[in-house]
Amino acid sequence: MKELVRLDNLWKVYPIGVDGVIALADINMSIHQGEYVAIMGPSGSGKSTMLNILGCLDRPTSGQYWLGGENAAVMSDSELSEVRNLRIGFVFQSFNLIPQLSLVENIEVPLFYQGVPRHHRHPRSRKLAQMVGLGDRLSHKPTELSGGQRQRVAVARALANDPLILLADEPTGNLDSRTSAEIMVLFDQLNRRGRTIILVTHEEDVAAHAHRVIRLRDGRIASDEFTDGRALA
Ligand SMILES: Nc1ncnc2c1ncn2[C@@H]1O[C@H](COP(=O)(O)OP(=O)(O)O)[C@@H](O)[C@H]1O
Ligand SMILES: [Mg+2]
Repeated sequence: MKELVRLDNLWKVYPIGVDGVIALADINMSIHQGEYVAIMGPSGSGKSTMLNILGCLDRPTSGQYWLGGENAAVMSDSELSEVRNLRIGFVFQSFNLIPQLSLVENIEVPLFYQGVPRHHRHPRSRKLAQMVGLGDRLSHKPTELSGGQRQRVAVARALANDPLILLADEPTGNLDSRTSAEIMVLFDQLNRRGRTIILVTHEEDVAAHAHRVIRLRDGRIASDEFTDGRALA
């Protein structure tokens, strides 16, 4: 399978204090199309920093980030936001839906920013709502939905632009264990249909859904293993 993501000698240092805070230290890794990866590690180990860089929300301090053959590490802010809009789907722990908008309008937000006309947006967002099991809730506002339903809307929104990679930072962090399991079944289905997924979690039972687990410690990769025992290529 094609290599989608490659980090070469990647560092992230936040300019705090005299020495700065080293969040990621000399990371090297690659992720191929169709992979299902969990990033784990204790609080402060650099998980969110890594996901934010992968999602083009932030830039490394040094090193390269190759995404689909382009080096995102050297892109301008506007180039990064274009890559983000076109190629990245992001799911957050806190859903980040817009309260004033209906379910179907929330799903359409990325398409709106891409300038996709209304008559193309609507059928696509309805289809995505159906895919996440909310085809009968199209005009509901986020406050009229359960936590699990809100996260389903967020997943549908993340897929609206048919992204190269789907990123999720603690997507089950605000959900009870039963609802978490339902969301993970949805991720499993998406990965079976070919979607490349990278998620951050500190829960082993969530990570067990992924096919590969990367563990960070103090900004470095402590281990990187396929869950079925295969060796990394
Ligand atoms: N915006 C920021 N400014 C300064 N330091 C930060 C910032 N974000 C994260 N850090 C620091 O970088 C390290 C890694 O943080 P983070 O990536 O959030 O870890 P995790 O998601 O694994 O908890 C921590 O020491 C944290 O305090
Ligand atoms: Mg975090």
